[in-house]
Amino acid sequence: MSTFNAPKGTFDMLPPYSETFNRIRIQFGLELRDAGFQYIETPTFEETGLFLRGVGESTDIVTKEMYTFEDRGGRSLTLRPEGTAAVMRSVLQHNLYAGRLPVKLWYFGSYYRYERPQAGRTRQFTQVGAEAIGSDDPLVDVEMIALATEGFQKLGLRDFRLLLNSLGCRECRPVYRAKLQEFLRALDLDAETHARIEINPLRVLDDKRPEVQALIADAPLITDHLCEACAEHHTFVRGMLDELEIAYEDTPRLVRGLDYYNRTTFEFVHDGLGAQSAIGGGGRYDGLSEDLGGPDLPSVGWALGIGRTMLAMEAEGQTVETPADCDVYGVAIGDAARRAVFAMITQLRIEDIPADMAFGGKKLKGAMKAASQSGARYAIVVGDRDLTEGVAQIKDLSNGDQTPVPLDRVVTVLKEKLQ
Ligand code: HAM
Repeated sequence: MSTFNAPKGTFDMLPPYSETFNRIRIQFGLELRDAGFQYIETPTFEETGLFLRGVGESTDIVTKEMYTFEDRGGRSLTLRPEGTAAVMRSVLQHNLYAGRLPVKLWYFGSYYRYERPQAGRTRQFTQVGAEAIGSDDPLVDVEMIALATEGFQKLGLRDFRLLLNSLGCRECRPVYRAKLQEFLRALDLDAETHARIEINPLRVLDDKRPEVQALIADAPLITDHLCEACAEHHTFVRGMLDELEIAYEDTPRLVRGLDYYNRTTFEFVHDGLGAQSAIGGGGRYDGLSEDLGGPDLPSVGWALGIGRTMLAMEAEGQTVETPADCDVYGVAIGDAARRAVFAMITQLRIEDIPADMAFGGKKLKGAMKAASQSGARYAIVVGDRDLTEGVAQIKDLSNGDQTPVPLDRVVTVLKEKLQ
């Protein structure tokens, strides 16, 4: 019990669950590194203007969900609601685009959105993300999708689906947008939805209400209105995914909650999660660099929600084995023995052998119980009599066999046994 609890919408990542969390981070980190991505970390908060400009002033994220505050110097700052705008800001600020393109970066961290908390939706959440900045090659879109798919599969996930769309470009989207608006304006919708038609009509396609869905069943679709270049790009992406046997579902009504997207957009959804089914999402954002004052740097990326990925693993019964706390556990009875065992444990750690010991003057029985709970393979047991004889007992915890070993040989013997 404590007087305080974690704030609403946040969570403590506790053991043994935290093991899965770390495993996901390590796995994606290795996979992305092997594909040429380098790690980047940007600040937890940025100038508010970055997100207004980057994410888009009409999005729910910016209008309703940002944690914005003024610091003591009177600056307006915002806890990052997503990673892409900040990564682009950093690439531009540090001229990372001066060398070989695309610049490939990956990141892992906490993001903040003031949303209504529910299963799979929290106000602080963790994403792993990857961005390829500075190439308009549709093959990079496919590379990104393939890496996310492979990552999920390596975690043992099977029941996820890839939803794919193209949002067109600055040429063809405005034409489509006007057509969609024309269609939507003629419908009998509530005032709020009519207001949305004027600001962000694509969002209306995402309306979950069945009565709205029925009304918009015949709405024009973006994929029927792509310009030649966008259509070619989209056809390439789909063809290459087919070639790689990566299954996708054409989802012409897929709308993402961020304004920077164009052309390829996608989402990974998992069917075992209920309402918050998106375990990851991403797409192309060819205009973001210029929106932030940079040069023409067409880019594509994704971010995956770690919390939802963990829920998906749980739904599919995928567990990560919790490794033993250590290989060797020290049990000392008496003060002099405690000092000797602690010295041995320290030496084992220097030799990269995971080791721990019973602290706090436990009696033999309690200390042996702690040894077996630790999952260690061997215990070093030392009593005062052993010390007088200059030995420690090395106990094999799998079968209880115990052998006396001279004190100065303990580390060497254990090293040999554990090889
Ligand atoms: P996003 O779709 O907003 O995209 O978020 C990506 C993923 O983060 C979601 O699919 C979901 O798994 C997780 N997520 C989002 N909000 C929450 C929440 N409140 N609670 C738990 N999990 C959440 C982006 O953030 C883009 N920056 C992705 C991107 C990168 N696009 C291009 N590059």
